[in-house]
Amino acid sequence: MKTYPIELTVNGEKYSLEVEGRERLLEVVRSRLNITGPKEGCSTGDCGACTMVVNGKPVTSCLVLAVAVNGAEVTTVEGIGNAAKLDPVQKAFVEHGGIQCGICTPGFVVMTKAFLEENPHPTEEEIRFGLSGNLCRCTGYAKIVESVMAVAASDA
Ligand code: FES
Ligand code: FES
Repeated sequence: MKTYPIELTVNGEKYSLEVEGRERLLEVVRSRLNITGPKEGCSTGDCGACTMVVNGKPVTSCLVLAVAVNGAEVTTVEGIGNAAKLDPVQKAFVEHGGIQCGICTPGFVVMTKAFLEENPHPTEEEIRFGLSGNLCRCTGYAKIVESVMAVAASDA
């Protein structure tokens, strides 16, 4: 199988690797780099569980070919915070019950960070619209919206 050399900077670390043309960014990051925060839910761009920031924009990484983002700067949930040092968004999700099973959470955290950078003081309606590409089967969304509002309010 033909492979292509690519370079990625993921969460500030540089990686050089060979990928097949069909390999998606999600599987390269999870399986090759062992960065497993981003989750594979639908594989069709509908659930947002695989969200990463690529060159400053949130993307559904299940739909992105790794060769297409050669040279990119990528941020996953691991680049936002960890158990020892939670980001305020992660802290708010924990404190306000925005997490239940947790499968959707890495995508929500990455998307929330990107969303709040664009709109630091959103209305509830703007939050619901801004995060509408991320699906959650557990929380009913109210607690997630509450979490995001709490972060926005803490920055006010
Ligand atoms: S796994 Fe990528 S959007 Fe669902
Ligand atoms: S917390 Fe379970 S899918 Fe969102």
